[in-house]
Amino acid sequence: MYRTGYQAQGIRKRFGGVTALDGVDFTLEPGSVHALLGENGAGKSTLVKILAGALAPDAGKLTLAGGPVEFASTRQAAARGVAVVSQELNVFPDLDVLANLFLAREPRRGPLVNRTAMARRATPVLAELELRRPPRTLVADLTLAERQLVEIARALLDEPSVLILDEPTSALPVDRAEHLLGIVDRLRARGVAVLYVSHLLAEVMLIADRVTVLRDGRTVVAARPRTELSIKDIVTAMVGPREAPPPRPARATKTGAAALVLADLTVPGLLDGVTLQARRGEIVGCAGKAGSGHSQVLEVVSGLRRLARGRVRLPSGRPGPRTLRTAVRSGIALVPGDRARIGLMLDKPLWDNVSQVSSGSLGRYGPFPRRRRLTDAARELVARLRIRTDSVDTTTGRLSGGNQQKVVFAKWLAADPDVVLLDDPTRGVDVAAKADMHEIIRELAAADRIVLISSTDPDELVELCDRVAVFHRGRLCAELSGAELTQPRLLHAMATGEAMGEPT
Ligand SMILES: Nc1ncnc2c1ncn2[C@@H]1O[C@H](COP(=O)(O)OP(=O)(O)OP(=O)(O)O)[C@@H](O)[C@H]1O
Ligand SMILES: [Mg+2]
Repeated sequence: MYRTGYQAQGIRKRFGGVTALDGVDFTLEPGSVHALLGENGAGKSTLVKILAGALAPDAGKLTLAGGPVEFASTRQAAARGVAVVSQELNVFPDLDVLANLFLAREPRRGPLVNRTAMARRATPVLAELELRRPPRTLVADLTLAERQLVEIARALLDEPSVLILDEPTSALPVDRAEHLLGIVDRLRARGVAVLYVSHLLAEVMLIADRVTVLRDGRTVVAARPRTELSIKDIVTAMVGPREAPPPRPARATKTGAAALVLADLTVPGLLDGVTLQARRGEIVGCAGKAGSGHSQVLEVVSGLRRLARGRVRLPSGRPGPRTLRTAVRSGIALVPGDRARIGLMLDKPLWDNVSQVSSGSLGRYGPFPRRRRLTDAARELVARLRIRTDSVDTTTGRLSGGNQQKVVFAKWLAADPDVVLLDDPTRGVDVAAKADMHEIIRELAAADRIVLISSTDPDELVELCDRVAVFHRGRLCAELSGAELTQPRLLHAMATGEAMGEPT
């Protein structure tokens, strides 16, 4: 593999009134990982798209392997060895894994697509990523994490000399993310130039050689060696002169009657006799590795999954909902982290999405709410969640990825739910926004709502929850609270399915 450096100089890009990039320089060196960091909306994905040929800059120049380049498409960039894994998943659910990997560039034998040749090339890449699914599996049947691996596999197939990864681990559970970091490490050793975008700063500290931080489309940290920076330095650079989030209030032990009772929940292959209770005012976490049942519990409570055995009792004393629609009517909100799957209306204005749940005939504004009321409510939530946009009339698809995730959160908050189920809700949001969302989650608990949160991030659960239920192979294997709720204990229980004994 020949070694290629890639340089961007003086890149500018505006979208209408928004300046996304305001004269940014960026260099990728062979055999080096350069992290590109910044808050939601800072301009990271815009720079990624320009480097990948998906978007033309208004000004500035690109130099690849010593010569100037202008790409009219990602395909042109790919032909020159520049591969990208974009933040939005670009997979086609109705096609199988193999077809997705070779989309629009299938090897052919005469007029026919040569599936044998495709499989031969794909197999080692899929094996390296440990995607253990037959290549003919429909992408619709894959989990979000597996879809993300398909995206990554597609980029690796061409053995690129420049690899651009825009939040590649945001949908991956911890062990998968670590595995991917190992792969990135090997690619670096082979001389690949890697651009790495992530909000997970611990990950960045492990993998990056250099760090660039953008704020409002400008460079505030320029290609500094990672060893010269601490996480705190990076956060300060990202956030700028804004006050730090308040320290975490001490945990008060919550007592009182259980308001949400889950008894013996059983769904064949997913949950096995899970019994769990949640009191008002308490934040209860559900932890586990992918597929261990922690997010399925939330799906059961919200009526998305049928029980083979067991029952759900709501605070009203009534049984749990059987559909998502009745769940909304019962005051239950399921806030998903997976915005692509649950679907924002990306072509609709922001206010329309924010008021989608609350404005329906089930919502708190009655059957025919006035638009004015909805836009006002949306404006309030935009400010509260610091969603970066100039107006609530902005088309939702134009927001940055993390800001779209905040819209999902806002949409459910607007409905003023009594039981709040959060399924990995902060995936893809930046550190400051995550702190904002945590603050709001604490306020919900303080207002005596019932809060159940699942997360793939153990640190998030330790920091936020009063109590964490740990799942392993569909069973509840441990409950940690108080002094026992620590990151090592949580990781241990998640990995082994056993609570840790007293430290000796
Ligand atoms: N197609 C578009 N039309 C209008 N505005 C856009 C478009 N794409 C990006 N923007 C705006 O440009 C700014 C930078 O967005 P970008 O997607 O680059 O942010 P980001 O740093 O990747 O954020 P995140 O961490 O949330 O992914 C944002 O204000 C965004 O709303
Ligand atoms: Mg982005």
